[in-house]
Amino acid sequence: MAEQRKILITGTAGFIGFHLAQVMLDQGWLVVGYDGMSDYYDVTLKERRHQMLLQNAGFKCEIGQLEDFDQLHALMMREKPDVIVHLAGQAGVRYSLENPRAYIESNIVGTFNVMECARELGVDHLLMASTSSAYGSNTEMPYAETHKADSQLTIYAATKKANEAMGHSYAHLWNLPTTMFRFFTVYGPWGRPDMALFKFTKGIIEGTPIDIYNHGEMFRDFTYVTDLVKGISLLVDTPPVRPASEDDIAEGDSLSASAPFRVVNIGNSDKVRLLDFVDAIEAEIGILAKRNYMDMQKGDVPATWANADLLQNLTGYKPETDVRAGVANFVAWYRDYYQV
Ligand SMILES: NC(=O)c1ccc[n+]([C@@H]2O[C@H](COP(=O)([O-])OP(=O)(O)OC[C@H]3O[C@@H](n4cnc5c(N)ncnc54)[C@H](O)[C@@H]3O)[C@@H](O)[C@H]2O)c1
Repeated sequence: MAEQRKILITGTAGFIGFHLAQVMLDQGWLVVGYDGMSDYYDVTLKERRHQMLLQNAGFKCEIGQLEDFDQLHALMMREKPDVIVHLAGQAGVRYSLENPRAYIESNIVGTFNVMECARELGVDHLLMASTSSAYGSNTEMPYAETHKADSQLTIYAATKKANEAMGHSYAHLWNLPTTMFRFFTVYGPWGRPDMALFKFTKGIIEGTPIDIYNHGEMFRDFTYVTDLVKGISLLVDTPPVRPASEDDIAEGDSLSASAPFRVVNIGNSDKVRLLDFVDAIEAEIGILAKRNYMDMQKGDVPATWANADLLQNLTGYKPETDVRAGVANFVAWYRDYYQV
């Protein structure tokens, strides 16, 4: 029997890390998790996710901060994963106006620590989370990985763009195959309490007003979490290879000419109006929301929209879950989890 491959995932108590760990376990990988259980949102939800994963004998995890290099390094050297997927970090566009330092510490120092371990281990592939927010004030849509993205609007986006630059340098210097994901508004069961779908569902069920920014004139490319982690799992086995020359880079590929490094959007490639999203949640719950229309928030962008061709060209896969079906699954999970 072939030896089981081992993947270390940071952020396994988080929304995306939890779903990815499930998928990798289902595919027969050994999964090692690392998460600091930050109190940015309800820690009980994180503990429950880890408890679910621990039901699988192929999963083990350690609680620790990315900033604690000694702990992270000791775990990495003991476990010697073949692949690292780095998803832990300080997420959230709006909170980065309140507490920017958290982003510098988790996303800059933390990501550097992960990269140092990946370099020392010489892993087959390092994959790390960036964001659609890296496109900043770009107006050319849909956003493609080959577009220039130099105008980040928040410290959150800036730390993620910095991670892309850091990743490129290590890929170049140490020939470390590195893929950066730009995720587009991920939603689904076990989702994050600070995100719109969770807040809207909670508000509608409890009868409290929900804040709708930019008076609803917002568009988002919503990506269902099951689709997203399927995309990630396919990319795990698609490490970038340093091209012999620029001529070897296919059109539309973000592959670097000087490193085994690429950036890949993971999105539905479907621009959904925020008000249609709210309508879908209302229809699913069967209650009308108390809508509190607000101005645009500082640092926010009116629209995101992914060109998903590169993911499809690399893996043959394209996220497709329709927002209504995804919302229905979320609401069903929410009602079951909170017994409401
Ligand atoms: N969910 C989205 O829509 C979305 C969109 C774009 C990018 N991302 C990125 O994807 C990644 C995963 O996002 P998510 O939605 O699962 O968020 P999440 O907050 O649910 O998960 C992140 C996990 O990282 C852990 N963590 C945070 N700081 C840490 C630190 N310093 N040390 C150790 N652990 C730490 C948290 O405890 C949490 O469990 C993040 O890097 C996020 O920025 C998410």
